[in-house]
Amino acid sequence: MGFQTDSIHAGQIAEPVTGAIMTPIFQTSTYVQETIGKHKGFEYSRSQNPTRHAMEDNIAALEKGKYGIAFSSGLAAISSIVEMFGQGDHIICTDNVYGGTFRVFDTVFKKFGLEFSFVDTSDFKQVEAACTAKTKLIFVETPTNPMLTLTSLKKLAEFGKKQNILTVVDNTFMSPYFQKPLEFGIDLVVHSTTKYLNGHSDVVGGIILTANKELADKLHYIQNAVGAVPGPMDCFLVLRATKTLALRMREHEKNSIALARYLENHPKVEKIFYPGLSSHPQHDLAKEQMTGFGGIISIELGNLDNARKFAEALKIFALAESLGGVESLADHPAIMTHASVPVEERAKLGISDGLIRLSVGVEDEEDLLADVKQALEHI
Ligand SMILES: Cc1ncc(COP(=O)(O)O)c(C=O)c1O
Repeated sequence: MGFQTDSIHAGQIAEPVTGAIMTPIFQTSTYVQETIGKHKGFEYSRSQNPTRHAMEDNIAALEKGKYGIAFSSGLAAISSIVEMFGQGDHIICTDNVYGGTFRVFDTVFKKFGLEFSFVDTSDFKQVEAACTAKTKLIFVETPTNPMLTLTSLKKLAEFGKKQNILTVVDNTFMSPYFQKPLEFGIDLVVHSTTKYLNGHSDVVGGIILTANKELADKLHYIQNAVGAVPGPMDCFLVLRATKTLALRMREHEKNSIALARYLENHPKVEKIFYPGLSSHPQHDLAKEQMTGFGGIISIELGNLDNARKFAEALKIFALAESLGGVESLADHPAIMTHASVPVEERAKLGISDGLIRLSVGVEDEEDLLADVKQALEHI
């Protein structure tokens, strides 16, 4: 099936009692059993819930996987992947990951004896150099948040298979509409459904997708054992939102291309990071492994004072953390989303005090252009 057909129909059946076309919100914690141990496959909502299953199957189809395992946040999903491993195991991670991902690896999982190397995964020499006999997992964000650096999915999958190391891609920035890492042979995809998959800034959630039954079984076990599951209402909202994912992603991208072209030539913008621009150092790789360039643009405005003036002057873009919603947002990574990354590390990555990340929404293109234009005049 095509992407839009799957996004509307996959994982969903008309509700058998009434024929309701929309999967109901099964707001229940438990299920009545006919006699001891005889039930309809549903015992307790941490373990099984029909609204959650419909959402998991829907997103699994969009990512071209077979299994979806949903969580109460993107970080709960990421943590559950790491919970498959134990003391002494080593994980290689992209250096420029979302600040919260860095924080949970660096301050929570290290305490349990897991070891991490944060390297630039766009450079495979660094990945190879970081690899040890204990390496069990390579965790990659591509494009990265907020510097929009890409890692080759093909090389990553080949490397993981050759070395017998699991590979994970955080696909939050692209959504399955623009990038499908499982098709390249990546083992696991993870999303913060809080972002594009839900897209309406009213849910916090996460999901893992895979085509591998053994991995899915392990992750379902952790999902139930640890219990960081999403509630049925949130699953319903995400399921409702994936129906328009393709439509929204096309609009996010159209507006982003227009804005990136404008910002690229603006004298107050010192640098721009957007994989859709031919000036992006990995534009060719972007064209190879993505079917579009997404809705996130980062710009360097020189210093904190300029960044502050710009952010305060914006009228349509709201100054807020998060991304991927229908409304446009501006973020100052150094003080907001990436504050948990140490200062020296931020400097190395380019997350300067002058950097602003824009999540371009689906408002009218000309209104967004006018907004950034007038805000830049305040610098
Ligand atoms: C790329 C990426 N991955 C994971 C997360 C974490 O997701 P959540 O906030 O749903 O826990 C975020 C949050 O901003 C993110 O941007």
